[in-house]
Amino acid sequence: MKLHQVWQFGVKDMKAVPLPRPRAAPKRRAWILGVATFIFIALAWAYLYPPPHYTSPVRDWLPGRLPAEPARELTDEERASRVVFRQILTTPAVRSKNSKIAFMFLTPGTLPFERLWEKFFEGHEGRYTIYIHASREKPEHVSPIFVGREIHSEKVTWGKISMVDAERRLLANALQDIDNQHFVLLSDSCVPLHNFDYVYDYLMGANLSFIDCFYDPGPHGNFRYSQNMLPEVTETDFRKGSQWFSVKRQHALMIIADSLYYTKFKLHCRPGMEDGRNCYADEHYLPTVFHMMDPDGIANWSVTHVDWSEGKWHPKAYRAKDVTFELLKNITSIDMNHHVTSDSKKVVTEKPCLWNGAKRPCYLFARKFYPESINNLLTLFANYTLI
Ligand SMILES: *[C@@H]1O[C@H](CO)[C@@H](O)[C@H](O)[C@H]1NC(C)=O
Ligand SMILES: *[C@@H]1O[C@H](CO)[C@@H](O)[C@H](O)[C@H]1NC(C)=O
Ligand SMILES: *[C@@H]1O[C@H](CO)[C@@H](O)[C@H](O)[C@H]1NC(C)=O
Ligand SMILES: *[C@@H]1O[C@H](CO)[C@@H](O)[C@H](O)[C@H]1NC(C)=O
Repeated sequence: MKLHQVWQFGVKDMKAVPLPRPRAAPKRRAWILGVATFIFIALAWAYLYPPPHYTSPVRDWLPGRLPAEPARELTDEERASRVVFRQILTTPAVRSKNSKIAFMFLTPGTLPFERLWEKFFEGHEGRYTIYIHASREKPEHVSPIFVGREIHSEKVTWGKISMVDAERRLLANALQDIDNQHFVLLSDSCVPLHNFDYVYDYLMGANLSFIDCFYDPGPHGNFRYSQNMLPEVTETDFRKGSQWFSVKRQHALMIIADSLYYTKFKLHCRPGMEDGRNCYADEHYLPTVFHMMDPDGIANWSVTHVDWSEGKWHPKAYRAKDVTFELLKNITSIDMNHHVTSDSKKVVTEKPCLWNGAKRPCYLFARKFYPESINNLLTLFANYTLI
């Protein structure tokens, strides 16, 4: 729009300039100047506002938006991983008639909400698969659909790379089933906010992964970045987000195929680094890698709600008395996601939860609920999931 105005002003200005008496040479000069100005403006216009279907020759044979190439020479490993990511991203997803969602539970032991999840899954056999990574003790099951769903697990230490390892282990197991098209990571304190059909259509229809991702210049964000991640991960690419992701099959493949960035974070994003700082790979690894490799393929928010508004070290956890129809209605009706930086400015960014051009409720799941709230949730389930 601005350029258009400049162009009009340009024409007006030219008209306003009193033309000298007709003399051959200056006239030709003015003519050349006019043509040159026009060409310049036309080129600038085409560059700034390409037609929507425009594809540069390089893009022609590489469909989709691809990782930006840095100006420097890529390392061998970096080039190799970009080729793999590119191939995965540009290979169309195979949609089988039996498309399923993998529900991957990352838990220390017994899942307190099995009965609630059983209600959620009831009647939808063949459209979901359950995987449980129990890192501390063997879970006891009250629902038959959870029996025998444990995968081989290892100990998980909060904030350490073992958390990312468990996520990758879950994905590798769930990817073995070719019908799994979307992969949801859940904790033992997570509960569903909508009915199964709603969740299924939401995730399958989105063509997006719901990975939380934002730029935080503060102490809980970029302060954790280490220069040891150079050259492949620069500070400007470092991102933060909640670990509770929900990813499409291509992205799940990328996560288990990656070794370069995984190793960088394993070595240089950990609690108790050489200089005394702490970094938590589960909050930075995936947001950073996807910000770099497929920024338009992620929603930048997580479909798992958690309430940090109290500003404490831990998010709000709901007791039985807190779990009311009103609370659940409130959470399910949220359609804006917001991020707050951890520096003194506490900059808040608030964005609508948009996909396929429409504003949607942001959340499909919520945490953290105390096990004691199970009865309230069971009583309310049929009601609140109909919202
Ligand atoms: C899904 O998104 C990718 C980019 O992430 C794009 O290349 C592809 O065409 C999209 N597919 C559909 C069915 O919209
Ligand atoms: C997520 O954020 C990136 C910028 O980091 C942006 O390019 C992308 O379009 C955003 N995704 C959506 C779905 O808006
Ligand atoms: C629900 O939202 C309303 C409006 O924001 C608020 O006044 C109320 O306290 C909330 N209730 C619960 C239980 O969170
Ligand atoms: C469930 O919803 C119905 C209709 O909206 C309402 O009459 C009933 O009181 C609700 N039950 C609970 C437990 O909230």
